[in-house]
Amino acid sequence: MHELFIKTIKSISFAFVALLLAPLTSGADDFKRDIIYQIVTDRFFDGDTKNDDPPQSSGLFDSTKIDFQAYWGGDLAGIQQKMSYIAGMGVTAIWISPPIDNENKNEGGDSRAAPYHGYQGRDFKRVEEHFGDATNSFTAFDNLVTAAHTNGIKVIVDFAPNHSNNNINGEFGAFFDNGVLVGNFTNDTNGYFHHNPNISDFNDRYQDQYYTLSNLADFNQENPTVDAYLKSAVQVFQQHHVDGFRVDAIKHVTWGWLYSFINSIYTNANTFTFGEWIADTTSDPLYHDLYKLANHSGFSVLDFPLYHAIDDVFARGNSFSEIDSVLSQEASNFQQVNDLVTFLDNHDRQRFLSINNNQNRLREALAFLLTCRGVPVIYYGTEQYLHNDTNSGNDPFNRPMMSNFDTTTMAYKLISKLTALRRSNPAIPYGTMGQRWINNDVYIYERAFAGSVVLVAINKNDSAATQISGLFTALPAGDYSDYLSGTLGGSSITVKDGGGNNPVDDFALPAHTVAVWTFSPAAAATPVLASVGPDVAQPEVQVTLAGSFTGTNTVKFGSTVAPVVSSGKNQIVVTVPPVSNGNYPVTVTGSDGRISNSVPFTVLAAKLIPVTFTVNNAVPTKIGDYIFLTGDTVELGNWSTMYDGAIGPMLTPNYPNWFLNVSVPAGRTIQFKFIKIAADNTVTWEGGQNHTFIVPTSGTGFVNVDWQN
Ligand code: NOJ
Ligand code: NOJ
Repeated sequence: MHELFIKTIKSISFAFVALLLAPLTSGADDFKRDIIYQIVTDRFFDGDTKNDDPPQSSGLFDSTKIDFQAYWGGDLAGIQQKMSYIAGMGVTAIWISPPIDNENKNEGGDSRAAPYHGYQGRDFKRVEEHFGDATNSFTAFDNLVTAAHTNGIKVIVDFAPNHSNNNINGEFGAFFDNGVLVGNFTNDTNGYFHHNPNISDFNDRYQDQYYTLSNLADFNQENPTVDAYLKSAVQVFQQHHVDGFRVDAIKHVTWGWLYSFINSIYTNANTFTFGEWIADTTSDPLYHDLYKLANHSGFSVLDFPLYHAIDDVFARGNSFSEIDSVLSQEASNFQQVNDLVTFLDNHDRQRFLSINNNQNRLREALAFLLTCRGVPVIYYGTEQYLHNDTNSGNDPFNRPMMSNFDTTTMAYKLISKLTALRRSNPAIPYGTMGQRWINNDVYIYERAFAGSVVLVAINKNDSAATQISGLFTALPAGDYSDYLSGTLGGSSITVKDGGGNNPVDDFALPAHTVAVWTFSPAAAATPVLASVGPDVAQPEVQVTLAGSFTGTNTVKFGSTVAPVVSSGKNQIVVTVPPVSNGNYPVTVTGSDGRISNSVPFTVLAAKLIPVTFTVNNAVPTKIGDYIFLTGDTVELGNWSTMYDGAIGPMLTPNYPNWFLNVSVPAGRTIQFKFIKIAADNTVTWEGGQNHTFIVPTSGTGFVNVDWQN
């Protein structure tokens, strides 16, 4: 009787847990719950040998897999065939290298260099023949997307709008629109490209955006044909049901244009989009420009500063204080730290094990990545301890062929255990991240969200931390066993009641330990709003709310009710209501009138059009002073005179004339002025009346005025 009773309780609580887990699927733009697996398609698995050496680009294939600059046969069918291996890790999204048709000729001049990586686009609306078939059709791509979705896995496409292909070799930048030649770099009569030297100073805003990135023919996005080409190309992929984009080299694409680019993506469909902007530390000279873009545009970004700190701390042995200070610095700069996209290595960097061939350290770093704030990316092969250390494992040796597909490695099992936790405990995707205990080798941090708590302790040292004392937690009083069941050395802890800041009894962390203790309360009656994505859009665009909702819910932007498209326990899709442009708190009200917490949202005046503003003969500036633009809509900063609110800094390749490409609301008559924000933040307004401009409803625009004294 007694035993039966316990069994019943167990199966009830098991069913309850299963119920809790089941509905936690996330919508396209709630990637915070997701775990991304990054694949270099050519280097993963050859699922179709017919496309190994296709006719239009024959000779770029090396069947021996010795030449790292050749195609090796991996393809979209190969990824599809390995879907259950991928799903078994609990990852919920794959990021594949650019699948578009790449140039057909050797781009390396005298030495072989095939675009197996995908960053030498020639037709952005077709699929590369080495990855699909010789007609460049979408068949293999569509099959992959279907198989991924059947397995609950989203597909993220790497998209490179900065450039076409090599400007001095191969096809000389030639690009095609679904088979029709549009133009090339060498005979560029329509101005599709910038014709500037290679970037030499990566801290120069003008060079970054208008010069050439390592001989890659640099698109001029202010040209209406190029603008429309790139925006319609991403739309083609949206029509083929992709769930996300990783946008390549955004530091080198015209920054103002990026706002209209991502706006066009979200206007088509709710597709999570994150960009690559390399800033290795938070003291990078352009770090401020990076978080300003991330805070205003709707772009999430890859978290390079944290990557660098993870690499220093786990692979190179630096103190945990380095990670801790990056986390707190970024938390004070980024409005949405939970959708920064985190990683510990990638296709451009040395693999972790090439820096330090220590599998303990790799697993500790993985456990950190999977419990830290941000959306984690696992680079293919990490779970198989894949690495090739030729030339210290630098590019291209960081892209070896996937070695095997063993689902029993300790890393594979660790990943599946922690991906499950990220899906089931909302503190990991949505929670705060707070340090609880730290020294050079021990880091204890806590994630907390709406009563859910995850406490993680890592000891990366070769020797034990024999006594951890003075640890406090938000875990309620009680005994907690290690969620990893001791597989990485963790054991139980006892928490006493301390009125919320609860003391933990002293405990030890053996050498190379990761321990994870978790708590989730029963669902609360008050709705909880965890995320709104995207967090910037014009009326009528669909946005996804994630959280914990009960019954019939009303979503409000400020005091205006938003039309509901679909509504579930963990996700509500609404369209942005027709309110005037500005910043609004979004809330969810349950049927009994209880109101959730709020999440900020920026309502744009209209869809965005890129317009280049030039002001001639601006007021003199000294080093550190900049000219900015400010004006009468949220897109123009609503007359802000602050560095983070006004639009800029503008660029001045022809001092004292300044210019900047800015995305502004289509069809609106905008009012604006130029201002100087001096290094000491003193503001100088230009005189006279406001300038006005009628923004075109499509294409791109240009404004050229003199500074009014
Ligand atoms: C960054 C990509 O990650 C890298 O692999 C590529 O070569 C450059 N951008 C240029 O597209
Ligand atoms: C370093 C720069 O910081 C980054 O922006 C750029 O993409 C790469 N170099 C190109 O190799």
